Order: sequence, then C-alpha cells, then structure tokens
Amino acid sequence: MTTVEAYVEFGSREAHGVSPTYERLSQAVARDGALLALLDRLPPAKRQPNLLFGVVRWLGGPVDDPVAFHDYVMTHWTAVEAELLTRATQTNEVGRCAVLLPVLAALPQPLALLEVGASAGLNLYPDRYAYRYGDHQVGSGEPVLECAGSGLEPPVRVPQVVWRAGLDLNPLDVTDPDDVSWLDALIWPEHAYRRARLRAAAAVAAADPPLLVRGDLVDDLPALAARAPAGATLVVFHTSVLYQVPPPRREAFVKLVGELPDHWIANEAPEVLPYDGLPDPPSDALHNVVALDGRPLAWARGHGQAMTWFG
Ligand SMILES: C[S@@+](CC[C@H](N)C(=O)[O-])C[C@H]1O[C@@H](n2cnc3c(N)ncnc32)[C@H](O)[C@@H]1O
Repeated sequence: MTTVEAYVEFGSREAHGVSPTYERLSQAVARDGALLALLDRLPPAKRQPNLLFGVVRWLGGPVDDPVAFHDYVMTHWTAVEAELLTRATQTNEVGRCAVLLPVLAALPQPLALLEVGASAGLNLYPDRYAYRYGDHQVGSGEPVLECAGSGLEPPVRVPQVVWRAGLDLNPLDVTDPDDVSWLDALIWPEHAYRRARLRAAAAVAAADPPLLVRGDLVDDLPALAARAPAGATLVVFHTSVLYQVPPPRREAFVKLVGELPDHWIANEAPEVLPYDGLPDPPSDALHNVVALDGRPLAWARGHGQAMTWFG
C-alpha cells in the first residue's frame, strides 16, 4: 500500500464516523505532496497515520486544522522525524476487552492469561472491569466498557483470572508519566471517554502490576507460557498486533500458538490473519475478526465499540 493509499484508507475505514478530526486530517495529508515526500523517506512502518498524528499531538502540535498541521510538521520536521523513528503505535485500547469477554467467560475457569503485544498490559484485567452490552451489564468497577452487540449472548459473569502475563517488544509502564502521556497522545482527539478509561484502567494495573516481559511473540512465547500455573486454562491472546509483524513471522507465530496453549484467542484484521468462509462484515468500516483456536466467531470494531457474532 502506498503512503497516499494508507492515509485515504485510514480516513475512510478507520476514522470515518469515529473521529471527524482524523478523517479530515488524513484526507488532507493524502493530498499534501510536500508532507508525503518527507514521509516516504521513512521506513514503511513509520509512515502510519496513527503514528504521525500521535507524535504531533505528543509534541504539542495542532491536529484539528490541516493547514496548521502541515505548517507545524514542515517547520518541526527534525523533531517529528526523530519521534517517528523511535516511537511505535502502541495504543492500549482497553475497550477491546469487551469483545474478548464473551469468549474468555465461556472457557473452563480459572484462566491464566498471556497476552502477546500487550503494550502496557491493560487488556490483562478483563475480570476487573465492568461491561455494558445494550441493557445487559456484567461485572463491576471502572472503567465501564460499552459494546453494541448483535447476535451476541452476553456473558453472565466475568472470568476468574489467576495469572496474567504480557509479552511486548517494548512494554509500557503505567506508573511512568512519559509512557502514559504517549498512550494518551495515541488516543484520537475527540475521544475523551477513551482518555478517561485509559486513566481508570491504568489505576487498576498500577494497583496490581502484571508480569510484563520484553520480548518477541515468536522467540519468547514458549518460555513465558511455561511460567503459567498448573491447574488453570492457559489462554494466549492478542488484539491488533499482527499488522505490525512481518508476514513470515506471523506464519511462525500462528504455527507456534497452534501447538502451545490450551486456547488461543485472536482479534485481528482479516487482511493480516485470514480465514476461509468469513461472512460479509457488517459495513465497509475496518473490522477485526475474533477467533478462538483458529475458528472465527465475530466481527469486532477496532476499539471494541461493537461486535457482530456469527460463530
Ligand atoms: C497496536 S498495539 C496493541 C496493544 C494491545 N494489544 C491492545 O490491543 O490494546 C501493538 C503492540 O504489539 C507490540 N508488538 C509488535 N510486534 C511485536 C512482536 N513481534 N512481539 C511482541 N510484541 C509486538 C507493539 O510493541 C505494541 O505494543
């Protein structure tokens, strides 16, 4: 995909109807020859809209006016480029717990959770949050995660989790103000509710920090999985991670994870983790597929705001 195509697709399939600011901005960048020329000097993974917009927000630049954004990036390119090259998109979206919960709650309890690509590990606490699927509420505490469900049998209780561990190339620490400010900058401008739930989930994690290990999801998974306690169902899961992993490594991961845990839950775009015989998605918007042990079960919107069950 060219840089122009990446910005057009981000605007029309990810930001459309979810963030008017980023929809407008990504369309403007897609037409901005000078800015595109700068981006095209970077490695492909560093040209991503989410990364560029997050870096500019983190540096204190404007994202709500495309002309001011252009001027800021051109004037401050040295600083912008340095941050693009050192940072990565590590959005830790706790709303994704809402699309994992129906699958987790249906597995034999208790659970030992191992998340690959965990970022700060906020999705390792599905038992500590509350959920609203339409009128149906599950769990207690903060944050309350809202998910519009279709075809879904909402779970009656949250899972019982006895062990939680995360693996990431660059684990983030919710007790480090710099890491939290980067997670905050990655949240889209209008999404005050996502900022509030980041703070609430970070407080949960800070009170009982997870085991977070720096490592690769292929090379370092077996050793971490071996640390899970006996007597619990080991679940390896990942959400919105594999698009950052080169295709041969994705294949190696899928082979490994098929051999390793008791269960494997994936929440990934079908372009990066394909399945045979998927039904049509509910709309043209970008959707992930929630799958258990390689069997697709549901379409899920990117931030966990909706799911359409078909499994
Ligand atoms: C977009 S973030 C998603 C974080 C979290 N799964 C969520 O949904 O909130 C992707 C995460 O995957 C991590 N990651 C990418 N490639 C990885 C690899 N080969 N091994 C381990 N982690 C990886 C990144 O560092 C980043 O923290």
